[in-house]
Amino acid sequence: MKTQSKHPDFESVLLSSDDIADIVQKLGNQLNQDYQGKTPTILAVLKGVTPFLTDLSKTFQFYCDYEYVAASSYHGGVVTSNWVEIYLWPRLSLKHKDVLIIEDVVDSGLTIQKIKQKAMSEGAASVKVVTLLDKPEGRKVKFKPDYIGKTIGQLFVVGYGLDFDEKYRNVPFIGLLKPSIIKMNPKDYPWRKDF
Ligand code: IMP
Ligand code: MG
Repeated sequence: MKTQSKHPDFESVLLSSDDIADIVQKLGNQLNQDYQGKTPTILAVLKGVTPFLTDLSKTFQFYCDYEYVAASSYHGGVVTSNWVEIYLWPRLSLKHKDVLIIEDVVDSGLTIQKIKQKAMSEGAASVKVVTLLDKPEGRKVKFKPDYIGKTIGQLFVVGYGLDFDEKYRNVPFIGLLKPSIIKMNPKDYPWRKDF
């Protein structure tokens, strides 16, 4: 992992702009093979996906149309079950469409699973999932994205669409914030002197 960062709130850079560009191009190459001659309906998962969606779209050599979905997850205090609410969904039916869901990161898998199930229940011809980042160690449900940009560990990363408290989505790289910014509990990190 690179240690330099160009933003005072960041501790380190996980993926530079160049790293991201390489990952996006590789995903684009795979999609161009698999969707040649097809016209998929893109289901872009707001809000974090927007920079990735824009860059990935520029690599497409097939026709596609765009729809947007949004979901929020509720992690109830002592209750272990997690509930995801989809609050934005396309008006047009997805029946017979080749649906390509594009997501920034899959962690527990709860959000993407719910979106995929809903698309399938509308009678889509096919439903595939592209994610820029995958955090398989965080899974609470069995779920494997069809196209994965980069698999990472249980890190909380921000930038390039990913937010902390709605901030840092505009940062052009993906990195880790300083613990003092995310206000981690110092008791959990006794070796750290910087917060
Ligand atoms: P899941 O339902 O747990 O898979 O959650 C996926 C959503 O959680 C993503 O769409 C992000 O909004 C958010 N998320 C998960 N991991 C991160 C992260 O490392 N940084 C920022 N947001 C994250
Ligand atoms: Mg988010």
